[in-house]
Amino acid sequence: MKRNLFIALEGIDGSGKSTQIKILNDKLTADGHKVYATFEPTDGIVGTVLRNIFKGDISADHRVIAGLFVADRLDHLLNESNGIMKKLAEGYTVITDRYYFSSYAYHSVYMDMEWVIKANAMSAQILRPDLNVFIDVSPEISMNRINLNRKSVELYESLENLKAVKDKYEEAFERLKHVEKIARIDGDRSVEEIAKDIWERIATLNSKQRK
Ligand code: ADP
Ligand code: TYD
Repeated sequence: MKRNLFIALEGIDGSGKSTQIKILNDKLTADGHKVYATFEPTDGIVGTVLRNIFKGDISADHRVIAGLFVADRLDHLLNESNGIMKKLAEGYTVITDRYYFSSYAYHSVYMDMEWVIKANAMSAQILRPDLNVFIDVSPEISMNRINLNRKSVELYESLENLKAVKDKYEEAFERLKHVEKIARIDGDRSVEEIAKDIWERIATLNSKQRK
């Protein structure tokens, strides 16, 4: 069995995270990993409230949304039945569709990034990803994909907002490059080319030890 890893996939809405997670799951499994794929917002109690907000069923201030994500992330890590910490202890390699960089990028469009980073400090203290994989897609391309493939468009899914979120991702990576491992992948390409690049970055981790 391979050393288990914790990998976070990041990117703006429609950047291809779910598509790449399915492929990565298969490749890691074939490579001898026991894989647990997960996502934020979670399907737990706080995550369910967040999904209702994104669908437009409930409305909430952006600062409240940011706070709910702090709680949802801690539940994602610490949940006694299916939390990430439990899965890692059981030997799973965990791949998550979004983690704290999503909060740094999405919420700092509306508030100070420093606040968002501090509010998530406990999650960062508990667990930093072995690799944050950023699928770097042009907002125009991802907006086209969203419009083509979805029946409804969610809160935050406008071209203007996705451009702002992408800029905030860049700012967050620059701020935290000394403490985080970040792999930037050019996402304006075919599914196969992107998957190949991601796999090359993951493969280099397989040989190293968890700190
Ligand atoms: P996310 O999980 O980041 O929102 P998805 O994986 O759901 O993104 O992809 C959004 C849409 O774009 C889906 O319909 C998917 O099939 C399509 N898609 C994903 N990657 C690519 C790609 N590299 N080229 C073209 N279309 C893609
Ligand atoms: P998600 O279901 O991953 O959407 P998509 O598949 O379109 O990428 O996430 C739903 C929304 O949640 C998305 O617009 C990003 C937002 N989000 C935040 O605003 N803050 C966060 O901390 C996270 C994890 C997600």
